[in-house]
Amino acid sequence: MAPGLIGTAALAVVVSLAVHVVLNCPIQPVPSPPLPAAPYPPNNLLQGLEKLGEPGLIAPEDVYVDAAAGGTLYTATRDGWLQRMHPNGSWEQWRFVGGTGLLGIAPSADGSMIVCDAHKGLLRVEEKRVTILASTVQGSTIRFADAAIEAADGTVYFSDACTRFGFDQWFLAYIESRPTGRLLKYDPRTGDASVELDNLAFANGVALSRDEAFVVVCESGGFRCSRLWLKGEKAGQADTFVQDLPGCPDNIRLASDGSFWIAIHQLRSPLLDLVTRWTWTKRFVASFPVLVDRIMATAKGAMVVQVSENGDIIHVLDDSEGKVINFITSVTEYNGDLYFGSLSTNFVGKLSLANVSQGKKEAHVTDVQ
Ligand SMILES: *[C@@H]1O[C@H](CO)[C@@H](O)[C@H](O)[C@H]1NC(C)=O
Ligand SMILES: *[C@@H]1O[C@H](CO)[C@@H](O)[C@H](O)[C@H]1NC(C)=O
Repeated sequence: MAPGLIGTAALAVVVSLAVHVVLNCPIQPVPSPPLPAAPYPPNNLLQGLEKLGEPGLIAPEDVYVDAAAGGTLYTATRDGWLQRMHPNGSWEQWRFVGGTGLLGIAPSADGSMIVCDAHKGLLRVEEKRVTILASTVQGSTIRFADAAIEAADGTVYFSDACTRFGFDQWFLAYIESRPTGRLLKYDPRTGDASVELDNLAFANGVALSRDEAFVVVCESGGFRCSRLWLKGEKAGQADTFVQDLPGCPDNIRLASDGSFWIAIHQLRSPLLDLVTRWTWTKRFVASFPVLVDRIMATAKGAMVVQVSENGDIIHVLDDSEGKVINFITSVTEYNGDLYFGSLSTNFVGKLSLANVSQGKKEAHVTDVQ
C-alpha cells in the first residue's frame, strides 16, 4: 500500500473506534485517586490455608461464624443458598433465598439472619420466610446492597456500594471512580431506612466497634475506611478511620480483641494500572465488554489486613500471585482461626493465627520505618 493509503486506513480505524466509544461508553469517568504504594513485602502466608466445603460453595463472598452456636460458620453462595458448616465439620444447605446476588450476612439478635441481596436490597431471612426490609431509601433505589451489621438495639447499618452500577457491573463502578456509595441505616422500630453518609467511593464492608461508639464503612475505590461516630462528643461526625490501605478494602469484621480484619483486593496489574491512569483509557476499555473481562482477569492475588481499634495496620497476610486463593472478599476471626470468603473460589479458607505470626512482625517493622 502507498503511504497515503496506510494513513487513510489508520485514520478510518481510529475514527470508527472513537465513534464506537462515543456511542457505547457506559461510564462517565473521573480520575482515580493515586494508587496505593505497596509498602509490605509479599509473605504468601495465605498459601498455608485449608479449604473448607470444596467444591460445594460457589463464590462464598461473605463468611460469618456464630460464637453462640459453638462456632457454626455461615456463608451465602451464588446459587442463592445460605449454607452453614456445623462445629463437627458437616455442611448444610440451610436456607434458600434465590438469585445470584447474596453478599453480606450478619446475625440478628432474634435468631434470623440479615442478608444483603445486591439486586433486591436488605433482607431478613427466617426459618420459613424471607422479608425485604429495605429496597429504597428516602425515595431512591438501593442499587447495590453490599454489607450489613446489626447493633445491640436492633438498628442495622448497611452499605449501598454504588448508585450508578449494580453488582454485575461492579468493575465499571470501580474504574469510573465516581463516589456515589452510601452508608445506610435501617430502624426496625419504624421500618424506615435513612442515609447516614453519602458520596462514598464504593461503599463496601460495614462493622461496629466493640463498644458501638462508631461504625466503620470501607471505601474500596478510595483505599480507605471511613468512620461515623455514634456515641460521645463526636456523635454524628464522620472522619477517616484508616487510609492508604495497600489495595481496595472489601468486608470488615470486628475481632475478639476489638481490632478489625479487612479483606483487601489487589485490583492491580500493569495493564489495569494503565487503564485507570487516564479517563480516556477508562472510557475506551469500558466500551468493549470483552476488554473489561480480559483486564479484570489480569488482577491476581489476595490480601487481608488486621487494623487496631485506632486504625493502625498491625498484621498483613497475602498470597501475592494468587497461587492458592484469589480475590478474598471477607475475613473473620473465630477462636484463633481466620476464615476467608472469596468471589473466585468454591471453598471457604481457614488459617490458624498461631501459624502466621510472621505477617505480624513484618507489618510492625514496616510501620515504624
Ligand atoms: C454434625 O452436626 C449436625 C448438627 O448438630 C448434625 O445434624 C449432623 O448429623 C452431624 N454430622 C455428623 C457426621 O456427625
Ligand atoms: C501450622 O502449619 C503446619 C504445617 O502446615 C501444620 O502441620 C500445623 O498443624 C499448623 N499449626 C496450627 C496450630 O495450625
